[in-house]
Amino acid sequence: MFALSCFVLVGLVCQSLGQYEYDDYYSPAGLEVISSPGCAPECDCPINFPSAMYCNERNLKFIPIVPIGIKYLYLQNNNIEEVKAGVFDNATDLRWLVLDNNIITSDKIQAGTIDKLSKLEKLYFSHNKLTKPPGPLSKSLDELKLTDNQLSSFPSNALSGMENLTTVHLSKNKLTTESITGAFKGLKSLVLLDVSENKLKKLPSGVPASLLMLYADNNDIDSIPNGYLAKLPNLQYLRVSHNKLVDSGIPAGVFNVSSLLELDLSFNKLKTIPEINESLEHLYLQVNEIDKFELSNICKFSSPVNYSRLKTLRLDGNNVTHSSMPDDTSNCLRQASEIIFE
Ligand SMILES: *[C@@H]1O[C@H](CO)[C@@H](O)[C@H](O)[C@H]1NC(C)=O
Ligand SMILES: *[C@@H]1O[C@H](CO)[C@@H](O)[C@H](O)[C@H]1NC(C)=O
Ligand SMILES: *[C@@H]1O[C@H](CO)[C@@H](O)[C@H](O)[C@H]1NC(C)=O
Ligand SMILES: *[C@@H]1O[C@H](CO)[C@@H](O)[C@H](O)[C@H]1NC(C)=O
Ligand SMILES: *[C@@H]1O[C@H](CO)[C@@H](O)[C@H](O)[C@H]1NC(C)=O
Ligand SMILES: *[C@@H]1O[C@H](CO)[C@@H](O)[C@H](O)[C@H]1NC(C)=O
Repeated sequence: MFALSCFVLVGLVCQSLGQYEYDDYYSPAGLEVISSPGCAPECDCPINFPSAMYCNERNLKFIPIVPIGIKYLYLQNNNIEEVKAGVFDNATDLRWLVLDNNIITSDKIQAGTIDKLSKLEKLYFSHNKLTKPPGPLSKSLDELKLTDNQLSSFPSNALSGMENLTTVHLSKNKLTTESITGAFKGLKSLVLLDVSENKLKKLPSGVPASLLMLYADNNDIDSIPNGYLAKLPNLQYLRVSHNKLVDSGIPAGVFNVSSLLELDLSFNKLKTIPEINESLEHLYLQVNEIDKFELSNICKFSSPVNYSRLKTLRLDGNNVTHSSMPDDTSNCLRQASEIIFE
């Protein structure tokens, strides 16, 4: 089911995400690398890219001493357990720090290391054993990835003052509604927040108006607060699939905003199609308990000039079929290329 829905989304979402993904680490693997002098013996610092140090995939248990002048440091896919004092003493220029796929615990990050990197812009720390965010982190941070750790606490000031922070990935952790209260306030550049696969009972509160994408799938959310989307005038993608949403948790008009392009409410407990605005393009409602096709919730008015911009409507895994659609549906859903019932 997931593969299928990702396939459907591929054109729009994956592409629009592309600009925020930096999974290409320009790894020099395969090239014969002549390291610049001063490079840690365990690593490579390509002579034509001397500000980068590649230490990834080397079975390292420790972080080598980082020489002066390094801006991009790649340490992913090792067995690093700790961040020892001294390793970054000369790394005052460091912009990118990639620590994905290691076994670092929060108590093994010594003071005077990551917290001293005053120019840090990207911190990739996914797939480790952190129980709280590292820091205090540089105010110049632009991207923070802490996916798949064991975060259960997230102090409300952990991200404060980070005016250039654009993306925060916190999925696959143990965060509760209370643990992230106020954590995203004032982040005026934030465009993507991913809190999926946590233990949230509510959507995060106090999220900034700059947000374009909010991902909260696979939590325990049973309602959307009244007026929640009205406070997010730029939000285009909202994903709340695999939660516990019920009809009574969806206030009238809560999705009546014209910025939203994609709304994913699949795998919940909705019995009716929620009211949406005509500007929505993709509505995912598969695997709910919907048993009637209420056209009026999709199209308030239908005429030659008033019609829904909906392109995708998924209703498979519910108790409705093609024959549940009223006769005048095609007039309103004239742009829908995919209406899926099974
Ligand atoms: C930092 O650089 C200075 C000057 O090159 C050097 O003497 C010192 O040992 C370096 N410190 C560390 C921790 O590598
Ligand atoms: C944010 O980015 C701007 C423009 O690059 C820069 O001038 C400013 O110092 C940055 N803010 C912080 C807190 O680093
Ligand atoms: C949706 O919101 C607009 C104002 O933003 C309002 O004019 C319209 O009546 C609302 N629609 C419904 C069905 O409440
Ligand atoms: C959709 O949003 C626009 C802009 O706020 C509003 O004018 C329109 O009435 C809304 N549509 C519905 C069906 O409420
Ligand atoms: C189009 O919809 C608006 C509300 O969104 C309504 O006020 C208007 O009467 C409708 N126009 C026609 C021609 O149906
Ligand atoms: C599905 O809808 C049919 C016809 O409306 C009804 O008879 C049946 O009981 C419904 N099944 C479930 C599981 O709700």
